[in-house]
Amino acid sequence: MSKLSPQDHAGFVRWMREASPYLRAHRGQTFVVYLGGDLVAGPTFQHVVQDLSLLTGIGVKLVVVHGARPQVEDRLAAAGIATRMAGDLRVTDSAALGEVKQAVAAVRFTIEAQFAHATGQRQPGGGAIRILGGNFVVARPAGVIGGIDLQFTGELRRIDIAGLRAQLEHADLVLLSPLGYSPTGELFSLNALELATAVAGELAAGKLVLFTPTPEIRDRSGRALRQLTPPEIRATEIAEGGPPAPVLAAALRACKLGVGRVHLVSSVDDGSLLLELFTRDGVGTMFSDAPFDQLRRATIDDVGGILDLIEPLEASGVLVKRSREKLEIEIDHFTVMVRDGLTVACGAVYPYPSDGMSELACIAVHPDYRSAGFGALLIAALERRAAEAGVNSVFVLTTQATHWFQEHGYVKQGLESLPMGRQALYNYQRNSLVLSKTLAR
Ligand SMILES: CC(C)(COP(=O)(O)OP(=O)(O)OC[C@H]1O[C@@H](n2cnc3c(N)ncnc32)[C@H](O)[C@@H]1OP(=O)(O)O)[C@@H](O)C(=O)NCCC(=O)NCCS
Repeated sequence: MSKLSPQDHAGFVRWMREASPYLRAHRGQTFVVYLGGDLVAGPTFQHVVQDLSLLTGIGVKLVVVHGARPQVEDRLAAAGIATRMAGDLRVTDSAALGEVKQAVAAVRFTIEAQFAHATGQRQPGGGAIRILGGNFVVARPAGVIGGIDLQFTGELRRIDIAGLRAQLEHADLVLLSPLGYSPTGELFSLNALELATAVAGELAAGKLVLFTPTPEIRDRSGRALRQLTPPEIRATEIAEGGPPAPVLAAALRACKLGVGRVHLVSSVDDGSLLLELFTRDGVGTMFSDAPFDQLRRATIDDVGGILDLIEPLEASGVLVKRSREKLEIEIDHFTVMVRDGLTVACGAVYPYPSDGMSELACIAVHPDYRSAGFGALLIAALERRAAEAGVNSVFVLTTQATHWFQEHGYVKQGLESLPMGRQALYNYQRNSLVLSKTLAR
């Protein structure tokens, strides 16, 4: 018998419906996931593995790159090996390399065992997820920095991407450890975050997921910034307490390398990965070269989304009813704002060129996205569109949003201010107020 309450049922059904477009969108994509050694040692590890198993279950091609920094530090301390640094880089001598190999191997086995456990539990009669790995990463010595020889600390030289791709066809998951092999047969310690970023770039992965304890980025006013493009992040003064600098640098670098989206996801809050990947607004921080919200002219493919947005407002009398046919004919007048496939705002511009005016109409923002500034962005875009068409002023007819328009510089007018053609269509029963604004040139 189900242990879920009726409220849980309703929540589950709503969540599944919201998640279903993402199930389709993620299938067949390649995701690269960075798991730090701290996560592997932490309380959320078991659930993160379950959630990654779910991704493989829906057909995501997964490459997991793990780190082992705290485990290496523990082993070095236990062995009494003092850590020497050259700038930000740790010197790995042959004694330290022995400890690194042991720590990395232990973390790798822990991850493999946890996947066996998670999937064995989930798939009645089914086998565990098949994990492959291998010598796909070629490294070279990082060399001598500031007079200090870094010895077995390496840097990435090449990744056997064809080999990695072939493995992804045969396995559920490829697990990469932060070690690289040199053509001379030596082994080098690598930075796992840099490895994950490079692998994601070379695979042209759809997503790079970076787990970090503090994924949230806030600007100086305390506003959380959930979706950012690299120019936006460079233009923003970020408050302290956000992601560590190397994580932020890795995210920006991955965007530059052409990774579709980079997600910073909490390594400490349970369920963050699923919430980030299967809900429209996510819970972490997402970087993408392409803006997340598109504000653009509507096309015929937007008719369905606009109807979904405006029909409830038409039913309650806030907006005038438009049939699908009318909307299809007038679609070129519309501007839409789309977030991850959902039409979150729309509005139309109807020019009266001989009167030097345009009407702004059918302005709506999805109820879940109100009071977030989308209305202000939309109206600015509509005014720009009107100005580009060469008119001097815009007007609106509204029954419910008078104050909102006034706050955007609109002024109440009499009916006689409208173009004659629009006066003839005025609906006296609706008794809308007329407001207008002169456009800045
Ligand atoms: C009017 C509307 C487009 C505003 O969109 P939005 O994205 O919420 O707007 P913004 O985020 O830019 O502005 C929000 C501010 O405007 C205020 N506001 C929103 N609707 C308002 C209204 N009808 N009257 C007065 N103020 C309003 C909010 O309270 C908020 O103020 P606050 O920040 O001080 O809390 C949206 O509320 C909507 O779709 N309403 C239903 C359709 C409608 O009335 N359209 C206009 C007729 S053409």
